[in-house]
Amino acid sequence: MDHDGRVAIIGLGYVGLPLAIAFEEAGLQVVGIDASETRIAELRGGTSPIDDISDERLGTALANGLRISSPAEAGLRDADAIFVCVPTPITDSKDPDLGPVLAAGEAICGSLRAGHLVILQSTTFPGTTNGPFREVLERSGLVAGRDFDLAFAPERVNPGDRVCCRILVTLGGSGEPIGNIHEKFKSEAHVGLGGTRTAGPGSCLLCLEFRRCQRFTLEDR
Ligand SMILES: NC(=O)c1ccc[n+]([C@@H]2O[C@H](COP(=O)([O-])OP(=O)(O)OC[C@H]3O[C@@H](n4cnc5c(N)ncnc54)[C@H](O)[C@@H]3O)[C@@H](O)[C@H]2O)c1
Repeated sequence: MDHDGRVAIIGLGYVGLPLAIAFEEAGLQVVGIDASETRIAELRGGTSPIDDISDERLGTALANGLRISSPAEAGLRDADAIFVCVPTPITDSKDPDLGPVLAAGEAICGSLRAGHLVILQSTTFPGTTNGPFREVLERSGLVAGRDFDLAFAPERVNPGDRVCCRILVTLGGSGEPIGNIHEKFKSEAHVGLGGTRTAGPGSCLLCLEFRRCQRFTLEDR
């Protein structure tokens, strides 16, 4: 499937906002979406809630066309790739709360179309992408891997890291489309972005764990 340069990022926090800015700076058309009216108002006003993103950098991105939107006004159908960067809190009983992830999936479902690429970035347990998240998306009548592409990307930003400021994107999905997607992002959105691809969401998570071990080992020396 072909994917062009229009990106939607759902959830504009520590993960979603730097990703939105990186894509905008790479020349893609970006809409950043958040459910919080307060977050939307502060971002539209040019105030960044994230240490890693200065007000000046946000202001430049806004001036260059970064759009900040509520879910209802986002126009998700017009995006080529949709990144989900909403939180995954835990419940009082320490179980993962997939509420925000599934709410984002429902918002996408109503606008899902053939050719869409949906990438889950939220931290979650193995099986979420091809399980509950996929189920919500497929309520649209479209099928992942056939009509639209679905992937998981667990690693994106190391908050506060002033040495290696690239956002690392490790994409794991099924089949050849993920390869195409990865090449597309490497070639068109590579300013400040680095990446690898894996065979599926599971191996993607494994890759992340190896990377974490490597990082902690190096930091511990
Ligand atoms: N370094 C990293 O990249 C990193 C590290 C740890 C965890 N994570 C994971 O990334 C995910 C996001 O983390 P964060 O730190 O950016 O969270 P955050 O709390 O900073 O931001 C999340 C944003 O999503 C918005 N939101 C919540 N539900 C929404 C919905 N249904 N639709 C639209 N917007 C919605 C919130 O208003 C908030 O602005 C979490 O799953 C987190 O565990 C990332």
